[in-house]
Amino acid sequence: MSIGYVDVVLGLQWGDEGKGKIADFLTPKYDVVARFQGGPNAGHSLEMNGVKHVLNTIPSGIFHENCINLIGNGVVIDPVRLMDEIDRTITAGADVRSNLYISRKANLILPTHKLLDAASEEQKGDQKIGSTLRGIGPTYRDKYGRNGLRTGDIFHPNFKAMYQKVADSHMKHLRQFGSDADGLEHMEQEFFAAVDRLREFKFVESEYFVHELIKSGKRILAEGAQGSMLDIDFGSYPFVTSSNTISGGVTVGLGVAPKYIRKVMGIFKAYCTRVGGGPFPTELNDPIGEQLRKAGHEYGATTGRPRRCGWLDLVALNYAVMLSGVDELIMMKSDVMSGMEEVCVATAYRLNGTETNQVPHNYVDVDLEPVYTSHPGWSEDISQHRSESQFPETFRNYISWLEEQLDVPIKVISIGPDRVQTVVRETQSA
Ligand code: GDP
Ligand code: IMO
Ligand code: MG
Repeated sequence: MSIGYVDVVLGLQWGDEGKGKIADFLTPKYDVVARFQGGPNAGHSLEMNGVKHVLNTIPSGIFHENCINLIGNGVVIDPVRLMDEIDRTITAGADVRSNLYISRKANLILPTHKLLDAASEEQKGDQKIGSTLRGIGPTYRDKYGRNGLRTGDIFHPNFKAMYQKVADSHMKHLRQFGSDADGLEHMEQEFFAAVDRLREFKFVESEYFVHELIKSGKRILAEGAQGSMLDIDFGSYPFVTSSNTISGGVTVGLGVAPKYIRKVMGIFKAYCTRVGGGPFPTELNDPIGEQLRKAGHEYGATTGRPRRCGWLDLVALNYAVMLSGVDELIMMKSDVMSGMEEVCVATAYRLNGTETNQVPHNYVDVDLEPVYTSHPGWSEDISQHRSESQFPETFRNYISWLEEQLDVPIKVISIGPDRVQTVVRETQSA
């Protein structure tokens, strides 16, 4: 039997590119879908047969029969939210009991992590990150500070005492923040009730599990959360999340060696969005931005917050392609731009009077002015098209121009939220 491999699909912008839709679309080609970082800050939407599902921690292969869905060691898990999501997903018809596997090394989001997230944001005033308040930052901080609890610990006879020790130390920090830990008692009750239920699911030594799957010829799809510009190292720091969202995150987030990674697929929207604070050079605070938000239903899948909208940014996109070594591109939501007379794309930044094609280290502090190239738009509704040959010529020209700019083939074009609204380009095989 030939050896298996890992393919990666991840977001190249500020999140919400459409990873859930595409991971679900690609799943029939894989035996396993695995999340490698992030947690319930993610909101991945899948739509099939007119019904929308939102997944936060469960991988997007869960609606396919016999697909193994693994929550990897790099993910942070909130038992309360995960149990709620499991219940919802079972009700929606997925066989979660059989097909969901959870790493024993994934760190736990505790109730006090969520309070710390809120208190830390509160203290930042107008410099708020705009965190989803799911406890992500404090949980990763404890992981790297070597104070965290992991899912494997829930089977320990002294789990409650282990929890208390960490919670007590969090209380000290909360007091420093001036927080009175309102509602903690109720949150803890919910937490331990969820932990009791979670124990019934399948927990694995995930790095061995993945390795065995690869050795037995299985094809694994590693599904990213967030986006490259939210990466803890390379994103618009400090307005980022707390994990490595680029392809490098796969090896440590699943425990697979780089040699097993076969290809990286990068997802981008035909425009840009961002939720929360931080730099966004191509942001449109005008009627065009409003039009994109309305037509694209740009409201957070997790928090319902309106997303900031702007033109496509090729400087940031090329950076993300470079960081993850993207082999194939997948373009989302071009249907949203139908009817625009012109479509603008940032091809460079002007920084202190000089043009640059690089994202500067002090992205947050400098005033970047995007340098735009304008393209004729397409007026037709493309959302019902099912092959590339049906696309209007202006749209086809735009795709070819983008491919030249990015030097990576665009293999799939998504033109609507549903599974079926996905065009695999005839000239390419995705
Ligand atoms: P994710 O976090 O990357 O999985 O993306 P989200 O689910 O947060 O946000 C993407 C949104 O766009 C969801 O509401 C999807 O249903 C929707 N969507 C995905 N692809 C397309 C597309 O090609 N066209 C349109 N109009 N909507 C899409
Ligand atoms: P998916 O997987 C969009 C943003 C938050 C905030 C920053 C830090 O659906 O693409 P955190 O809660 O991680 O501490 O928040 O990152 N953010 C996302 N934005 N999509 C996401 O996930 C996001 N996850 C976090 O809005 O600005
Ligand atoms: Mg999302």
